[in-house]
Amino acid sequence: MCQIPDELIKRMRNIRRLVISTGAGVSAESGVPTFRGDGGVWDKMSPHEMASVDGFMKNPELVWQWYQHRLEIRDNVKPNRGHEVIAELEKRFDYFTLITQNIDGLHTVAGSINVLELHGNITRNKCLDCQEMYEPEIDLSDGLPYCECGGMIRPDVVWFGESLPETVLEKAFTDTEASELFISVGTSAIVQPAASLPLMASRSGAYVVEINLESTPMTASVDLFLQGKSGELLPRILDEFSKNTD
Ligand code: OAD
Repeated sequence: MCQIPDELIKRMRNIRRLVISTGAGVSAESGVPTFRGDGGVWDKMSPHEMASVDGFMKNPELVWQWYQHRLEIRDNVKPNRGHEVIAELEKRFDYFTLITQNIDGLHTVAGSINVLELHGNITRNKCLDCQEMYEPEIDLSDGLPYCECGGMIRPDVVWFGESLPETVLEKAFTDTEASELFISVGTSAIVQPAASLPLMASRSGAYVVEINLESTPMTASVDLFLQGKSGELLPRILDEFSKNTD
C-alpha cells in the first residue's frame, strides 16, 4: 500500500485553501458503477444514446428508464469513507470547495456543504424547454412526463454536447485558481472542462495531488500521485493530518 508522504501532510497544515475535485471513482466503493474501465457503464451502452439531447429525443423512454435505474441504485447505496473524509476535511480548512462531476449527490448525503456539481444532480428534473424544476419522483407508468408549458421533462444533468451550468463552472474556475492544495480523486481525467482543473490549479501555484486506482492522462503533470482506493487513502490522509505534532 502506498505511503502518505510527510510533504503532503506538512502542506495541509500550512495552507488555508483546499479544493477537492471528484469523479465516479469516489462513489465506486459505495456500489455506484463508474463509466470507464472494466465493467464501466460506457462498455455496455452508448453515451450518445443515453447522455445526449439527440439520444433523449430519439428514445426518451429508454433514457428515462436508465436514469430511473440509476436513481434506484443511488437510493440504495450509502456514502463511503471517502465521501465522509471529504466532508470532514471541509471543516478543517478556512476555505474549502468540493467540485464534483458526480450526479449521485452522495457528497451532500455525507455532509459536504460547499459542493459544486458540474454535471447536475440525478435527484432533480427540469423542463427541456422552459427549465422549470420538477421533483425527483417521476412515475413512468403514467407515460412520459411533460411540463405545464408542454415541453418534455428530463433529468437535470449535463449531457454530452451541453454547456455546464455557467455560475457553477465560473465558481469552480475561481476557486481552483485560488487553491493552494488541489486534490483530484477518482476521475479518468478525460471529460472537459473538469479534466483541465488540476492543470489550472497547478499553473496558479497549487500543489496538485491525484488519487486513483490507476494512472490517467493527468498523472504525469501532478505533484503527487497516490495509487489506491479513495475510501482507503483519504482516511489515512485524515489520520496523518489529525495526528498531534507536538
Ligand atoms: P470514469 O468512469 O471515467 O473514471 C473513474 C475513475 O475512477 C477511473 O480513473 C478509475 O481508475 C477510478 N477509480 C475507480 N474506483 C476507484 C476507487 N475506489 N478509488 C479511486 N479511484 C477509483 O468517471 P469520471 O472521470 O467521473 O459525464 O467521468 C467523467 C464523466 O464522464 C462523468 O461525469 C460522466 C461520464 O460520461 C456525463 O455523463 C456528462
